[in-house]
Amino acid sequence: MDLLLTTAAKFADDPFAARETLANQTVAIYMTKPSTRTRLASETAVAHLGGTPVFLRGDDLQLGRGETISDTAKIISGFASALIVRTFAQSDVDELGAASTIPVINALTDDDHPTQLLADWITIREKFGTDISGRKFTYIGDGNNMAHAWLIMGAILGAHVVAATPSGKWAPDASAIATAMKIAKSTGAKIEVVHDARAGAENSSVLYTDVWMSMGDPESERAEKLKALSPFAVTPELMKLTAPDSIFMHCLPAHRGEEVSAEVIDGPASLIWREAYHRRTTIQAILYHLVRGDLQGSALLG
Ligand code: CP
Ligand code: NVA
Repeated sequence: MDLLLTTAAKFADDPFAARETLANQTVAIYMTKPSTRTRLASETAVAHLGGTPVFLRGDDLQLGRGETISDTAKIISGFASALIVRTFAQSDVDELGAASTIPVINALTDDDHPTQLLADWITIREKFGTDISGRKFTYIGDGNNMAHAWLIMGAILGAHVVAATPSGKWAPDASAIATAMKIAKSTGAKIEVVHDARAGAENSSVLYTDVWMSMGDPESERAEKLKALSPFAVTPELMKLTAPDSIFMHCLPAHRGEEVSAEVIDGPASLIWREAYHRRTTIQAILYHLVRGDLQGSALLG
């Protein structure tokens, strides 16, 4: 992970530092869910590495008409150097990864959003440096794909990470917590899941949140879900409980007045624009090292 973050920092300084990496190559980007940042960042990253992005919308492919994932993976592998995929089921990405002969990068599923976390952590390191001992990093809100990714990446980086979510239906999945706990055993990370917003926020260096209704969440649950999540809104009052030098982060898109107050997200502690900028630098670093063969299977691959 350090390698990716270091390379991403280089691509922040000089976006064109490796403009021949993907010369004469294409990278397929297949998405069955909307995207603003990830698509822009991915296409720009490919272009900066000298390649051509080929964007495939969900219903563009024969996959939607019954062609198998496995056949699709073989075809894409014959044309592209890598596949970036955003979809619903994690198992579909896993299947694409297993049947492809090219790297498959998870650009968000219902369960995970690993590339986002690289952008988050380079932003955190720019603010606090690499010595994060004694610091606490809190995700607050829905126990969704972002909560899972937050816990798992925090575990990989040996951080003290907290997820403050409602209990029950909107808590993080037990399997994601178990994965983070298992990784933490070898990295020394501290993983906590709490169901109290104030306890989560107290003395934290980062308060991080995400939308309360994710792509694909059933509309029929909106009222019940928003009620359960309302104590977890990031307000100026909650920010007052955090560490004196704390920052606010959000993967975006945001809903001001719902998961976060406008005063917080548009205030001086918010690093959302730098965080979004780093979606390109980090995806560029992933592609750079993948096509050079520097990375073996990792959490980023399907
Ligand atoms: N943060 C993020 O993944 O944004 P998009 O959904 O716009 O890609
Ligand atoms: N949890 C959100 C993240 C968007 C980047 C979703 O899946 O819609």
